[in-house]
Amino acid sequence: MSGVEVRIRNMEFSDYRSLIGLWEGFSGNTLTGADSQVGFGEFLERNRSYCFVAELDRAAVGSVMAGYDSRRGYIYHLAVDGSLQGRGIGRMLMEAAEDALRNDGVEKAHLFIYTDNPAIEFYERTGWHRRTDIVVMSKVLIGDEFTGTRRDD
Ligand SMILES: CC(C)(COP(=O)(O)OP(=O)(O)OC[C@H]1O[C@@H](n2cnc3c(N)ncnc32)[C@H](O)[C@@H]1OP(=O)(O)O)[C@@H](O)C(=O)NCCC(=O)NCCS
Repeated sequence: MSGVEVRIRNMEFSDYRSLIGLWEGFSGNTLTGADSQVGFGEFLERNRSYCFVAELDRAAVGSVMAGYDSRRGYIYHLAVDGSLQGRGIGRMLMEAAEDALRNDGVEKAHLFIYTDNPAIEFYERTGWHRRTDIVVMSKVLIGDEFTGTRRDD
């Protein structure tokens, strides 16, 4: 990668504060109750081997949280610091997550993305297929009724 030495490593519980700071900067990465410190910790506890951080000079500059529900893989919170985008870091993070899922025999992964997020093109460039045969349906099980506003994936 040109100019900067980025290291991809497994995500740690101690990354929480800096990752929240990273994610808050992107409208495409909505933060919800699942992003509380407890929620983050529970996800990481179950899926640590599929979650990665891009580190530059000991700072977290990128992330991906993948999970496996024993049937399919799911991708959450892919993000790269705005000043470092376009240098291949997003691709490296996704390769790390996909390799980790693949190594555990996960056959297919899905992700949710808002229809107006430019990152759709990133995913298409990195081998993901846009589905037109599926509609996502959601039901709020704890909390307020679903309003259709951007609250969660
Ligand atoms: C999506 C994101 C992680 C991509 O990270 P990145 O480090 O800039 O991506 P890369 O440099 O690895 O790009 C890989 C390829 O995708 C292309 N690409 C990346 N972002 C793109 C965009 N917005 N539009 C078109 N192509 C894009 C690159 O040109 C590159 O193509 P190439 O390999 O053919 O040259 C980054 O744009 C981001 O953090 N976006 C905001 C957060 C977000 O919306 N995440 C998705 C939530 S579902």
